[in-house]
Amino acid sequence: MAENGTIQNENIQRPQMEAEVAGLKFRNPVMPASGTFGYGEEYAPYLDLNQLGAVVTKGLSLNPKAGNPTPRIAETTGGMLNAIGLQNVGVDMFIKHKLPFLDQFDTPVIVNFFGNTGEEYAEVAARLDDLPGVAALEMNISCPNVKHGGIIFGTDPQAAYDVVSLVRKRMNKPLIVKLTPNVTDIRVTAKAVEDAGADAISLINTLTGMAVDVKTRRPRLANQIGGLSGPGIRPVAVRLTHQVVQTVKLPVIGIGGIFRAVDALEFLIVGAKAVQVGTANFVDPTVMSQIIKDLETFCIEEGVADINELIGSLKI
Ligand SMILES: Cc1cc2nc3c(=O)[nH]c(=O)nc-3n(C[C@H](O)[C@H](O)[C@H](O)COP(=O)(O)O)c2cc1C
Repeated sequence: MAENGTIQNENIQRPQMEAEVAGLKFRNPVMPASGTFGYGEEYAPYLDLNQLGAVVTKGLSLNPKAGNPTPRIAETTGGMLNAIGLQNVGVDMFIKHKLPFLDQFDTPVIVNFFGNTGEEYAEVAARLDDLPGVAALEMNISCPNVKHGGIIFGTDPQAAYDVVSLVRKRMNKPLIVKLTPNVTDIRVTAKAVEDAGADAISLINTLTGMAVDVKTRRPRLANQIGGLSGPGIRPVAVRLTHQVVQTVKLPVIGIGGIFRAVDALEFLIVGAKAVQVGTANFVDPTVMSQIIKDLETFCIEEGVADINELIGSLKI
């Protein structure tokens, strides 16, 4: 391999990079994390969406949401805090104006969604379920930045079970449920979600955090509390992914602080079948393209013929 990381010899056998989660086939295991990639269109000038394993959209609700007052972002050491408050165009507007753009790509679209009540969750899921351009739904029961819904469902195992069961009854597409790390034992929530009929689990959403401006003595976020993401949370995310993989039979998608291929590899090795890249997209909108390339190079250098050989290959 050349110093710049490119493969020189065209005769080298390229590794098999295709990944599979709950019957969904991805050309590779790398996709964006919800809320850090807009509706896909915003990033299309920077990277070819046809390179990605999947596109994951910003979380959608039944009605459009303006989100929280500003400031809603604060940089921290090793990451960032956000309290966007799930700003989005609403499910109907998404179907009419955002989804057609994504239809032109040959990349599965995973739509993230949430509701203020169980009924709202189920209604949003039902409206998305019939659309041929939607491959799967990712249900956010883990957002720390809204007063109703979100994390309330994710921190109480019974509430998680109830809301996932309700949604399951109203939809047929693969259902990925996204968990919060802000619990004492994530294995209990993971089990509840599995029992309720989820097809896959993604984790983690952000860790609740707070930062203070010492001059003004005010919280740096108007919402006071926000969600911490970025490289600083990765060891927590890897630990939680490992624990969930050991607990449930469902496929798991790992998320949290992935900036480089080696970060993604940690999640695959503990057993995640795919990964999502979040905050890194804000630093470098082309980062996923590099991660995909470097994963392939890693496989070639390590003599790994199929990237799936790495999944769950942790040696203890
Ligand atoms: C600005 C911002 C907005 C987000 N919006 C959503 C969202 O709408 N739905 C969701 O499930 N997660 C949302 N997340 C959480 C991310 O998808 C991801 O789980 C989290 O940031 C951890 O990954 P990272 O460290 O790679 O960013 C958001 C994160 C950030 C930073």
